[in-house]
Amino acid sequence: MMKIAVFASGTGSNFEAILESIQLKKIKNVEVVLLVSDNPNALAVTKAKNASIPVFSFQAKDYPDKLTYEQEVLEKLTNHQVDFIVLAGYMRLLGPVLLKAYDGKIINVHPSLLPAFKGKDAIGQALDYGVKVTGVTVHFVDEGMDTGPIIAQESVPVTMSMTRETLTIKIQEIEHRLLPEVIQSLANKETTI
Ligand code: GRF
Repeated sequence: MMKIAVFASGTGSNFEAILESIQLKKIKNVEVVLLVSDNPNALAVTKAKNASIPVFSFQAKDYPDKLTYEQEVLEKLTNHQVDFIVLAGYMRLLGPVLLKAYDGKIINVHPSLLPAFKGKDAIGQALDYGVKVTGVTVHFVDEGMDTGPIIAQESVPVTMSMTRETLTIKIQEIEHRLLPEVIQSLANKETTI
């Protein structure tokens, strides 16, 4: 059984999709043992509590620096015997404490075809640029912002009639399927799908 921690700062729809995939047995041999959030008021936290998943939430401003809060996060991960970390809308860069402890064992989902449109509001960036194709990327995490080896990508055509809302719905539909698929493939000890 691969024990994962999901890190989320906001809505947590990807977190929910992972839980649902486990419930529906679309993913096997994977257990979500902890939700980590840097926002105690995040909807993701409420969703975890409703699903009886343990939560560790913190506020970065309560700590002197990233090193200190990541040490505490690491302690929780160790207590819950976490094998693997999934960043799903976690709005902070990871520092050396977590990157060293979970080297090669952290993935992230990003709503663009990386390396295009890194950082915040990738969907807005794609629309502003006027690209005709965007998509979803799942990649391993390193010290950069949305860098690190790509594991899986799926494209989405951007049509003339699309608004930010409809494109977001389309992208999220893909994320909610692709991220659980990648988690399963990693649990099966494959590195690509
Ligand atoms: C997703 O679009 C993900 O790609 C990005 O942040 C968003 C999180 O959404 N990194 P949610 O909190 O999972 O609903």
